Amino acid sequence: MSSFGAVGARLYAWFNRHPESNRVVVGLAELRAGEPVLEVGCGPGVALELAAAVAGAEHVAAVEPSETFVAMARKRVPGADVRVAGAEDVPFADGSFAAIYTLASMHHWHDRDAGLATLCAKLRPGGRLVLAERLLDRPGHGITQAQIGEVAGRLTGLGQVDVHTEQRDVGRKTLVAVISERPRTA
Ligand SMILES: C[S@@+](CC[C@H](N)C(=O)[O-])C[C@H]1O[C@@H](n2cnc3c(N)ncnc32)[C@H](O)[C@@H]1O
Repeated sequence: MSSFGAVGARLYAWFNRHPESNRVVVGLAELRAGEPVLEVGCGPGVALELAAAVAGAEHVAAVEPSETFVAMARKRVPGADVRVAGAEDVPFADGSFAAIYTLASMHHWHDRDAGLATLCAKLRPGGRLVLAERLLDRPGHGITQAQIGEVAGRLTGLGQVDVHTEQRDVGRKTLVAVISERPRTA
C-alpha cells in the first residue's frame, strides 16, 4: 500500500513541480531511443515524461503503488505502461529492462532488500540501475552515507557490477544516486 493517499498525492504533485531532480536522474540513467526503461515510484510522472522523450513512450514503463499517482502518470505520458505495484513486486518479466531508475522512492519501500533484489532481476545483461535520493545527515526522507553503504553492499551481493555513487547539487539539496550494472555475462 502506498504512503500517498489521493489527497497527499495531489498535494505532492502541486508542490513538486520543479523538474530539475527528475532531469538529473533521467540523465544519469543514460537512456537510449527504443530501449525499454522502467521507473519505480513514478509519482505524478514528471521524470517519466522526460524518459519518454528520449526512449519513446511505448518503451517506457513504471510501477507506482498510489492509484492517484498512476492515473496522473498515465494522463501525463499516454502510451507508457504504468502499473499499480511497488518495487518489491514488479509485474514485468525478469530481464526486461535496459535501464531502471527511481527518484525519492526507495526510502518509502516497505522492504528495501526485497526491492533491490527484484529490480536487479528485472534488468537485462548490461542494464543500468539508478537509485536516487536526497542526501541526508540523519535517517529520514532521503538517504544517509551509512544507508548508501548498505545499499551498495546489497547490490554487490546481488551480483551488480560497477557499483558507485554520483552526487549533484540541485537547488539547496544534494541528490545522490547509487548506480550499478547487471553483468553482461552470467
Ligand atoms: C517522494 S515521492 C517521489 C515521486 C517521484 N519519483 C518524484 O520524484 O516526484 C515517493 C514515491 O514513492 C512511491 N512509493 C511508496 N512505496 C513504494 C514502493 N514500495 N515501491 C515503489 N514506490 C513506492 C510513492 O507512492 C511516491 O510516488
